[in-house]
Amino acid sequence: MASLISETSQKIFTSETLRAAAKQSERCLVVPVRLRRAIKKYLREQEDPYMRRKVLRLSQSFSDIKDVNLQLVAETSKELVADPLKSMEQSQRWKIKSAYGDIGLTYRDDETVAYVASRMPSVYSACYRVLSEVRRRLPGFSPTKVLDFGAGTGSAFWAMREVWPKSVEKLNIVEPSQSMQRAGRSLVQDLKNLPLIHGYTSLQALTKEVQKSERQHDLVIASYVLGEIPSLKDRITIVRQLWNLTQDVLVLVEPGTPHGSNIISQMRSHILWMEKRKFRKAKVNKEDSKDLIDLRSGAFIVAPCPHDGRCPLEKSSKYCHFVQRLQRTTSQRAYKRSKGDPLRGFEDEKFSFIAFRRGQRPRDPWPLDGMKFETLKEQRAKRNPEDFEIDYEDLVDAEETSDMIPYEEVDPSAYDSDVMETDNIIDNDEDQEETVNANLGGGWGRIVFPPVRRGRQVHMNICRSTNPDASEGSFDHEVITQTKNPTLHLQARKSFWGDLWPSGRNVTTATS
Ligand SMILES: C[S@@+](CC[C@H](N)C(=O)[O-])C[C@H]1O[C@@H](n2cnc3c(N)ncnc32)[C@H](O)[C@@H]1O
Repeated sequence: MASLISETSQKIFTSETLRAAAKQSERCLVVPVRLRRAIKKYLREQEDPYMRRKVLRLSQSFSDIKDVNLQLVAETSKELVADPLKSMEQSQRWKIKSAYGDIGLTYRDDETVAYVASRMPSVYSACYRVLSEVRRRLPGFSPTKVLDFGAGTGSAFWAMREVWPKSVEKLNIVEPSQSMQRAGRSLVQDLKNLPLIHGYTSLQALTKEVQKSERQHDLVIASYVLGEIPSLKDRITIVRQLWNLTQDVLVLVEPGTPHGSNIISQMRSHILWMEKRKFRKAKVNKEDSKDLIDLRSGAFIVAPCPHDGRCPLEKSSKYCHFVQRLQRTTSQRAYKRSKGDPLRGFEDEKFSFIAFRRGQRPRDPWPLDGMKFETLKEQRAKRNPEDFEIDYEDLVDAEETSDMIPYEEVDPSAYDSDVMETDNIIDNDEDQEETVNANLGGGWGRIVFPPVRRGRQVHMNICRSTNPDASEGSFDHEVITQTKNPTLHLQARKSFWGDLWPSGRNVTTATS
């Protein structure tokens, strides 16, 4: 749990450490060989001759549910925004249905096998990316007790194992579909050091069977499930319950669509609103000491938002989402269809997410505070005559070639063989060595959408905090020019969609 006290002392970044700390995007992910093998084995055991058709049907059903849900949201959200308290009273009377209503998606054997073949590697990759950022931003956090709500076939659990190997000791899953639960168990059967896993068909079943004192989890995750809960009120009721079961961190991941992003934004507003209200109440209650308030009250956002104010993209035409590229697995290449063209060797999984933490956001120093920058003119004036041969711009161009694409293009032919399913693949867990982390203060903005280079300028959209305690934020278009600040210009050129962007409260852009 976080406290008001700053977790890190002020340290001055170099341009290299600044870049390393800001990096959150991952290039093309390779699904770990363990998971690829498990999927392959599971699919072989199913011996399903109609896989292509089933994958197509599953994909169609995702589109259908999206359309119906969009209509529902429009009908109910107005009421909620107008009077949050009133609708909460109403929603408490709602019974959460674990058997689906008319518009819910059921996962029988056909949908399950199609999900494992076509969606699980992509959802795994989005979860891996999100949890990796949680690990970087919260270096001391290593969950032992976890709840995976709507666990499906266990994509989030597989990601957790890669991000925090051997950390999880107890895993509670809530999953109404017996078929999904069976597949999840089958996929992990060859893994060693499994945590103690308990399966429940609904949250009610969990609360009934688990004593109150045992219900807290270090990490609660709900990935790609809230969009399948029929109404906004049900979603809010569920997320409130999930938050009550969270001791430290709650992570929500949804598809990176306007609908998925809207769900994340609504849950964001709700949790923050609820906790702010509780915090204010606790403050006026004379029996609460200040320390107690800090420990148990409040919530802040670990990622992606650099502030806990109103989302600046709310009611705009833009929606907050990110993208993770992955190498397609054998089953994805075999069963997914493309419109006429040969299937690419990679897939871009778009996702929206949020990671909340209990407590108050630490007032950590802002990264550019204390840093001094030179203008291009000043840098040039300091150069030795022999350095004039080297043109700064040429140097950067030699390092990078792509202008607007957030990832390297991957040669699809390189992934067309089962040779990829060997241990020779470099697994993602080689990537664990990280020394510089961005702190949780409001000084690390977020680059949303791909930065665009125009001549010697880089144009970026940045979500940032606008005050020292990160209680408010804005979404700004920023142009970084080489002439004014070559260091930040280089940083911008090396940045991708989803990376952090440093700010300072008193930024010095030139030497005095
Ligand atoms: C798209 S799958 C996602 C599965 C998994 N979380 C993942 O990331 O791969 C959605 C899952 O949510 C489950 N689900 C749907 N409604 C639910 C509810 N009310 N309570 C719990 N799980 C639910 C479904 O059975 C399904 O397994």
